[in-house]
Amino acid sequence: MLNMAFKCILWFAQEHVNFRISEFESLAKMFGLQFRLVSQQLLKPFWIVEFPSEKTALQYASRSVALRAIFELYSYANTLPDFHNRLRSHVDTHHNELARHFSSDSSFKITVETYNKHFSQREKVEKIETMDYLPIEGAVDLKNPRVELWYLEFWGLDPKAVPPVPEDILFGRLLAQGQRHLIKDLSLKKRKFIGNTSMDAQLSLLMANQAMVRDGDLVFDPFVGTGSLLVSAAKFGGYVLGADIDYMMVHAQCRPSRISQRIREKDESIRANLKQYGCADRYMDVLVADFSNPLWHPRLSFDSIITDRSSIRNSRGNGKSENKKEWERGHTQRGHDPLSIHFALLAAELVLRFARVFCKAPETWRTPRVLASLPSRGLR
Ligand SMILES: C[S@@+](CC[C@H](N)C(=O)[O-])C[C@H]1O[C@@H](n2cnc3c(N)ncnc32)[C@H](O)[C@@H]1O
Repeated sequence: MLNMAFKCILWFAQEHVNFRISEFESLAKMFGLQFRLVSQQLLKPFWIVEFPSEKTALQYASRSVALRAIFELYSYANTLPDFHNRLRSHVDTHHNELARHFSSDSSFKITVETYNKHFSQREKVEKIETMDYLPIEGAVDLKNPRVELWYLEFWGLDPKAVPPVPEDILFGRLLAQGQRHLIKDLSLKKRKFIGNTSMDAQLSLLMANQAMVRDGDLVFDPFVGTGSLLVSAAKFGGYVLGADIDYMMVHAQCRPSRISQRIREKDESIRANLKQYGCADRYMDVLVADFSNPLWHPRLSFDSIITDRSSIRNSRGNGKSENKKEWERGHTQRGHDPLSIHFALLAAELVLRFARVFCKAPETWRTPRVLASLPSRGLR
């Protein structure tokens, strides 16, 4: 039986909420992490999860982009009296472990974070004072504390129906921040080469995590565009390769999408983007290719395919058509089944060998026929 001795609070950003579950599962699988999900309502920003150890918790935090921060759980309850009873009892039963963090040579800081209800600084201090029974001997250090304790209150998800009392009250010790700094680091605002369809940094990073990109993986995006997914995959250590039907896009000669820019700079390219983020060594190449005509050697095998395909063009059409009917006609004329082209990533014989495929696709593609045509092996 697993020993899930380490209880944690996971605090998520309340954005792309559906991605957080799948990111969590993917990272757990990628690192081989064992866990027990205590929380039932996964749309809430605070989850309680049990891991076998602090090390496991830190491993998850080292890659999660959905995660704001992770804490060792000291107390959790749905009412304030229960919360304080549990915190008192935690202090009694974990005396030795807590002594390390509460000793006189360990400075500390308590932060109050409330979700869906605002409190003044004074009210926050009052909340901290309700925990004056904590046997903390260290000095307060608001700037550079050795131990950070966090008191969290969840006041529902609906700003128009804030409950009279908090739904969840949680308290714990900060273990680590998630990787949300990467969203700013890779922001499109400052990226060298972008286009109208460039995917924002947060989604790209979440997708790379869902595709479980590992250091040294070979990662391919068959609809590479300006390469946003390659950027995030490379940031996580993948060697990246892309293809796109649009010559102008691949050569960064398409019309600039920044209002302030009239012509593209000479050195704009996907490669330049990777260089900008310090991962030039992960760049393999980008090719002009129609993905419905696979050009890959049968022996080539990618670790992950990660792609964002919202519209497909065909190389026999006028090149501008994003129109579904025209597109379907183009492919049926060439003997392709339009639905399997939609899912050619999955149906094409070369793709069947891939370990992991992650494709952001419209809901409308999820027809019973398409779903039935998906290969089961390695599909995400
Ligand atoms: C949604 S965009 C991808 C955006 C990309 N993730 C980025 O960050 O820039 C889809 C791309 O698919 C390409 N595309 C459409 N049909 C294609 C086809 N049959 N083969 C290869 N690329 C295709 C388009 O030229 C476009 O660049």
